[in-house]
Amino acid sequence: MKKVIAIDGPSGAGKSTIAREVAKTLGFLYLDTGALYRAIGYYFFKKYSNCNVSAITDQEIEEQLKQINIEYEDGRVFLSRKDISTEIRAPEIGYITSVLSAKKVVRDFLLPVQRRFAEKYDIVAEGRDMTTVVFPDAWKKFYLDASAKIRAIRRFEQLKISNINTTFEEALQDVMNRDIRDSSRENAPLTRTKDAFYIDTSNRSKEEVISIILKKVAEDD
Ligand code: DC
Repeated sequence: MKKVIAIDGPSGAGKSTIAREVAKTLGFLYLDTGALYRAIGYYFFKKYSNCNVSAITDQEIEEQLKQINIEYEDGRVFLSRKDISTEIRAPEIGYITSVLSAKKVVRDFLLPVQRRFAEKYDIVAEGRDMTTVVFPDAWKKFYLDASAKIRAIRRFEQLKISNINTTFEEALQDVMNRDIRDSSRENAPLTRTKDAFYIDTSNRSKEEVISIILKKVAEDD
């Protein structure tokens, strides 16, 4: 395994922006594992549109996963060669992804996919279970956090930029619902571990957080 900087934290804590910048500065590959989960969410959303995804059996999911071709390059994600990086950010994809990502069959499918990146490249990997399940022996571990209100403001701004229609109240509700689902699920729940360096990003600029991480990364090496 090459060098892995593992970053976990709840939705909207700033992981993507920070991880992307840290990777760029260090010349590491940026691995947005949420984008891989979202690609699966997008696939099922398109395939089953109005169907309640919780009703699909694990066996059916497993069968479908065998047919999925997901590729990831430099923060962009492709499904059967189609760039779906923008589409996967829609709130309905966030919802279905959150439900699907709680399933063992989905997590088992993505586990080797994620680890394979670290066989070839030094990476900055961000998600919910980077420090606990996917890369428990990571070179450096971080946990980014922020208050629910701040995270909802960020999410709302992000969606506006992407021209996705939503209100602040919806964004806040979405963040809180996702927190509950991501932390209370049985499989690889979002957990803050003792060996992950904790950073509250609520009142810190992007630059400050990046600088804290880079300093920490430079320690002892
Ligand atoms: O980070 P994000 O909001 O793009 O993640 C989308 C969903 O995928 C979110 O509900 C949590 C889930 N996810 C996960 O379960 N494990 C990961 N390593 C990354 C994301």
